[in-house]
Amino acid sequence: MRKMTVIGLTGSIGMGKTTAAAAFRALGIPVHDADAAVHALLAAGGAGVDAVGAAFPAALMTEGGKTSIDRKTLGQIVFGDAAEKKKLEDILHPMVRAAGDAFVAAMHEQGHDLVVLDIPLLFETGGEKRVDVTLCVTAPPDVQRARVLARDGMTAERFARILAGQMPDAEKRRRADYVVTTDKGHDAMRRQLTDIVAKIRAES
Ligand SMILES: Nc1ncnc2c1ncn2[C@@H]1O[C@H](COP(=O)(O)OP(=O)(O)OP(=O)(O)O)[C@@H](O)[C@H]1O
Ligand SMILES: [Mg+2]
Repeated sequence: MRKMTVIGLTGSIGMGKTTAAAAFRALGIPVHDADAAVHALLAAGGAGVDAVGAAFPAALMTEGGKTSIDRKTLGQIVFGDAAEKKKLEDILHPMVRAAGDAFVAAMHEQGHDLVVLDIPLLFETGGEKRVDVTLCVTAPPDVQRARVLARDGMTAERFARILAGQMPDAEKRRRADYVVTTDKGHDAMRRQLTDIVAKIRAES
């Protein structure tokens, strides 16, 4: 079987992770999305519903006879409460890790030589130890701010609180093996990603 290289894709809020993930997929490189994995775990029938529901009964929701976790309620419970947030992360992070590991194994089995794990809190959770290469997407603070504040339901205060809960962009850039800028448009970003993929393949 071919050697497999796992790329950990990260970056602070609004820096372009999901956009870069789509560009990787367009290059034929499979991507696992940690945020989407959390959504699936908490949806009806998801593997995280029982454990999260037991720890946070107020977030349980039953609709049409199916039980799931109401992520909005859950978010309100843990937002700004470090102890509750840790309790939730202790349940979810191992499950998200397991889903990522299973995805890597399945893609390896299918013959892929490269796979991307899109993990917003890669460095915050020590996830860099589980990947071969780290890649951080970045943009200047004013660009990041304008992008995030343009989103529905986002306020300056909420943005500030989210930023405060993340490792600073400069620290992520310092730690990452590769840094990709996303403020010069899609083509410029794609060129950087294509170069990085070529370099990784040449080295492995
Ligand atoms: N290379 C790029 N060129 C142009 N626009 C971009 C680029 N990368 C990202 N953007 C824009 O920036 C916004 C945020 O991008 P994206 O949703 O990919 O960020 P994210 O890091 O996934 O955010 P979150 O942390 O909230 O998941 C989007 O509106 C997207 O269109
Ligand atoms: Mg995203």
